[in-house]
Amino acid sequence: MRIEPEPAGIFADWMAEVQARTERALERILPCAQVAPQRLHAAMRYAVLGAGKRVRPLLVHAAGALTGAAAASLDRAACAVELIHAYSLVHDDLPCMDDDTLRRGRPTCHVEFDQATALLAGDALQSAAFQTLCEGPEHIEPALRLDLVRLLAQAAGSRGMAGGQAIDLASVGSALSVEELEFMHIHKTGALIRASVKMGARLGAGLEAGAGAALDRYARCAGLLFQVVDDLLDCESNTATLGKTAGKDRENDKPTYVTVLGTARARELSRELLDEALEAADELGPGGERLIDLARFIVERKY
Ligand code: IPE
Ligand code: IPE
Ligand code: MG
Ligand code: MG
Ligand code: MG
Repeated sequence: MRIEPEPAGIFADWMAEVQARTERALERILPCAQVAPQRLHAAMRYAVLGAGKRVRPLLVHAAGALTGAAAASLDRAACAVELIHAYSLVHDDLPCMDDDTLRRGRPTCHVEFDQATALLAGDALQSAAFQTLCEGPEHIEPALRLDLVRLLAQAAGSRGMAGGQAIDLASVGSALSVEELEFMHIHKTGALIRASVKMGARLGAGLEAGAGAALDRYARCAGLLFQVVDDLLDCESNTATLGKTAGKDRENDKPTYVTVLGTARARELSRELLDEALEAADELGPGGERLIDLARFIVERKY
């Protein structure tokens, strides 16, 4: 049985509320720009606050809603994932990686500050993510905190996001097979998205084995889907809409779903992955609506 998506207004309101509470929580976690070293703190705040779709925090909250997790605990996990994501973007934009000058509609961190500050801001955001999971007044059992730290560390590390980024850089100018491309994408982007879902769910009541497997299938599909759509947007959209330089993948000679499959097949694949994600979410029963809406949002987004 297919769960019907909620009326658009309900999802939009929920999304705005989670985005706003995430912003407030991040604002509290990040050191003030008046505290020394001021320039580093200003760069960290610049990289995190005031923009970004907050897709990963939304996934944390959606998965947590499914298992009845407390909102305050979910904020903590959501902020930790978003801090890792923000660090990955700061480093991704550096001249030694994608060499981008525009991010979230503003100059990239190293353009606004300088390369060394951007490098350190990324480093410090990563530390802040793990510190966030270890601190806070919420009643999160130590063993559960440890699980969250482990999930996030695995997703961010050499067999997760950082590993995917290494493959991305090593693949410039090469013709990857579809399997190789999928391997790269599920690491560089999919790992953090999958971890967002796992961490959110982990903060609530345990799921039955079948539901746990369905949720993970959803998370894996959503992660790959996110990067397939990112590849499509890079070549089909424009800089003003994206808030980052359109056509950058081609300029940097990156293998993407568009170069490997062509635009039409990549779009078709995005619909297939969406269907697979929706099928998995259907198996979760009531409570999975937000995950369904988010999967649709990932495909329909304009930036
Ligand atoms: C961009 O991520 C980088 C990728 C992993 C594709 P988002 O599209 O989630 O970026 P923001 O956070 O909304 O700016
Ligand atoms: C970045 O992928 C994935 C990360 C781990 C940051 P992209 O390089 O395609 O992300 P954008 O297009 O610059 O946002
Ligand atoms: Mg990149
Ligand atoms: Mg990039
Ligand atoms: Mg991209």
